[in-house]
Amino acid sequence: MTDKTGDLTNGDIKDMSSESSLLCGTRGEEDSRWVKDLGEGVQVQLQKLIQPLQERLTELEKQTMKKYPEVRYLPESERKRILITGGAGFVGSHLTDRLMMEGHEVTVVDNFFTGRKRNIEQWVGHPNFELINHDVVEPLLIEVDQIYHLACPASPPHYMYNPIKTIKTSSLGTLNMLGLAKRTRARILQASTSEVYGDPQEHPQTEEYWGHVNPIGPRACYDEGKRVAETMCYAYAKQDKVDVRVARIFNTFGPRMHMNDGRVVSNFILQALQDQPITVYGHGKQSRSFQYVSDLVDGLIKLMNSNESSPVNLGNPDEHTIMEFAQIIRSKIGGNSVIQNVAAAEDDPQRRKPDISKAKKILGWEPVVPLDRGLQLTIDYFRNELEHAAKMKVPGKPVE
Ligand SMILES: NC(=O)c1ccc[n+]([C@@H]2O[C@H](COP(=O)([O-])OP(=O)(O)OC[C@H]3O[C@@H](n4cnc5c(N)ncnc54)[C@H](O)[C@@H]3O)[C@@H](O)[C@H]2O)c1
Repeated sequence: MTDKTGDLTNGDIKDMSSESSLLCGTRGEEDSRWVKDLGEGVQVQLQKLIQPLQERLTELEKQTMKKYPEVRYLPESERKRILITGGAGFVGSHLTDRLMMEGHEVTVVDNFFTGRKRNIEQWVGHPNFELINHDVVEPLLIEVDQIYHLACPASPPHYMYNPIKTIKTSSLGTLNMLGLAKRTRARILQASTSEVYGDPQEHPQTEEYWGHVNPIGPRACYDEGKRVAETMCYAYAKQDKVDVRVARIFNTFGPRMHMNDGRVVSNFILQALQDQPITVYGHGKQSRSFQYVSDLVDGLIKLMNSNESSPVNLGNPDEHTIMEFAQIIRSKIGGNSVIQNVAAAEDDPQRRKPDISKAKKILGWEPVVPLDRGLQLTIDYFRNELEHAAKMKVPGKPVE
């Protein structure tokens, strides 16, 4: 109620005093007595000062009331405390989404070398979620039931940027996580890679194949780092009975891949979206097989919760030449990009195709997202990212 001048009346002041006493309990009662003791004129003046502050407070409350994606309720007995290292990265953030939505408590540890806060911002502030800015090369003391150890730069330009750091991340980082798993008796899943097979001489690659890796080539910091990480997993399993899982992940793509990270899918999509030449390294007859990220996340969770402790390939056996990929992506996006052959990359594997019989048999897992669907979702993501980047640019400057 307001009087003729639009000011609050005494009745309003009383209502507000009783509201504040409900909110503040005894303190509120004291405050309302104090307000009543004031003269009417002072009360009105006081209210004039308070009202805009109250309105601002309500506005701020509305702004900070964050809406989270829907999360399943899991009873305490089924809810796990799960650590995801590298959880702000491409694969890690999708895994975070899935495990959060399943109702688990997720802690993401990331040093943001290639990860982005934007990938996990949807969970920041949720009671089941925690984000720790930490480098896995340093020890970490927390309590967990499961560890998905993904922290490691994964694309050639990123892992070659500081090869010594890449080796430290794979070796010391994995050692620290194995130590954590040993102390907490947590199960640990190591995100290994098809790169442990190097430039393979067997095709397709089964888990029994020992690989063909150049130990001193430019990719060795990553390949050999991941190989020694596997070795450490099995040393801890044998010597200290640590419960390990090893996923050998083949090329994966999807939304939240890094722009400009030099990987085939992101390169081709970005080039085609910007009408630039699509650059194919070498003759383009080298083959790759790409799995969509949600298939990988399914496989990782199934492997973690299985009884299989030996390495398991997770990838899509649907094989295409790099030239075919360039053509598929160009025809999906349209535009005027030409396909251009450039010098071949050093130690670039010629063929890559997983044998996933083991994953099919033991985990009942196989990829289900068709290439066409996965590519469409990824193209849509990159298109949005380019638009977002253009909006953030100073007007007049071209998007790089
Ligand atoms: N994406 C693929 O095609 C692919 C293929 C095979 C294996 N893998 C493996 O899967 C994992 C995730 O790959 P991704 O594609 O999501 O890569 P990504 O670069 O997007 O994610 C890696 C994450 O680890 C973080 N990180 C790096 N070094 C760290 C450190 N020292 N301490 C803490 N955090 C650190 C990064 O900031 C990033 O968030 C990697 O271990 C990678 O080797 C990925």
